[in-house]
Amino acid sequence: MKALTVVPMQAGTAELSDVEEPPDSDGPVLVETIAIGICGTDAEIVSGRYGWAPPGKDRLVLGHESLGRVLEAPIGGAVAKDDLVVGIVRRPDPVPCSNCAVGEWDFCRNGQYTERGIKQHDGYLSERYRITPDFVVKVDPTLGLLGVLLEPTSVVAKAWEQVERIGNRAHWSPSSVVVTGAGPVGLLAALLGVQRGLEVHVIDQMVQGVKPELVRALGAEYHTGAISEARKNPDVIIECTGVGSLVFDAMEHIGPGGVVCLTGVSSGGRTLGIDAGDLNRSMVLENEVVVGSVNANRRHYEAAADALAKADRSWLERLISRRVPLQRWADALDRSPDDVKVVVEVAEH
Ligand code: BGC
Repeated sequence: MKALTVVPMQAGTAELSDVEEPPDSDGPVLVETIAIGICGTDAEIVSGRYGWAPPGKDRLVLGHESLGRVLEAPIGGAVAKDDLVVGIVRRPDPVPCSNCAVGEWDFCRNGQYTERGIKQHDGYLSERYRITPDFVVKVDPTLGLLGVLLEPTSVVAKAWEQVERIGNRAHWSPSSVVVTGAGPVGLLAALLGVQRGLEVHVIDQMVQGVKPELVRALGAEYHTGAISEARKNPDVIIECTGVGSLVFDAMEHIGPGGVVCLTGVSSGGRTLGIDAGDLNRSMVLENEVVVGSVNANRRHYEAAADALAKADRSWLERLISRRVPLQRWADALDRSPDDVKVVVEVAEH
């Protein structure tokens, strides 16, 4: 079967390879891949800046934002033939650490977790894959291709859970959120903010096009300026760009008792001049919190599946700005400024 593979940390090595059918040892659920979403992490892996091959191998099968159809599953299990499913990305570390031991692998403490399509575990961008039932999540069948948005939605479902758990350390009745970045993660974070009944503001650089349109279609406000101009003292800021200056801007402008959640995985190498004492004083005097959030566990995938099931289908459809057939996978990695989510289509749906 065909699979998109890459030699991690070596640019220019991505290719459509012929690989073996998935071994039975990968699990009793056989899934036919329908589509795979492409994100910044995939672009980083393909450009040789991130990623790890499975032990003993040179190449890694890419793809962690998946949607597939079950071809075979054990009778009487949680998933059955023809179900639309999404594979969970992370696997617990083998030790396991105290968090992985209780299914909170997104909080793995020793870094020995693996991630399908990213870290030491082949991904889902192959025509078929096998998996154990505990690592697949069923998608509302009426979502169809839109189910491919489940993995990025799980990442923001976790971010919102963190914000709410932290907020609830004291009386918590938030009214506003600023989201920085109108990429797929930012837009999905905004969707979840709207679903919570909050006043939602999204900041991005694009002056026109699909991003401002998508924000306004949610009933949220779109801004191209600074956080302080978008909304004074927001209760929540979800930072989805990983841009250092915005991270510090968020910390400076979060409202009293507010929570800044960082979700962008940035590359290093840039320094900023900041008045650390001033920032510290205001954060202490106003009980503000900055929290990093990565990945998602099963609970977050399930929350994401509920959020997508109740979202407006035509809005979700516009989030998928381009579909590329598997043979033309390279076009999917060639991103234009107006792209939101680009997906590689592997099979008919
Ligand atoms: C994925 C996460 C993953 C993270 C770090 C993101 O693109 O969505 O599941 O944990 O990269 O590897």
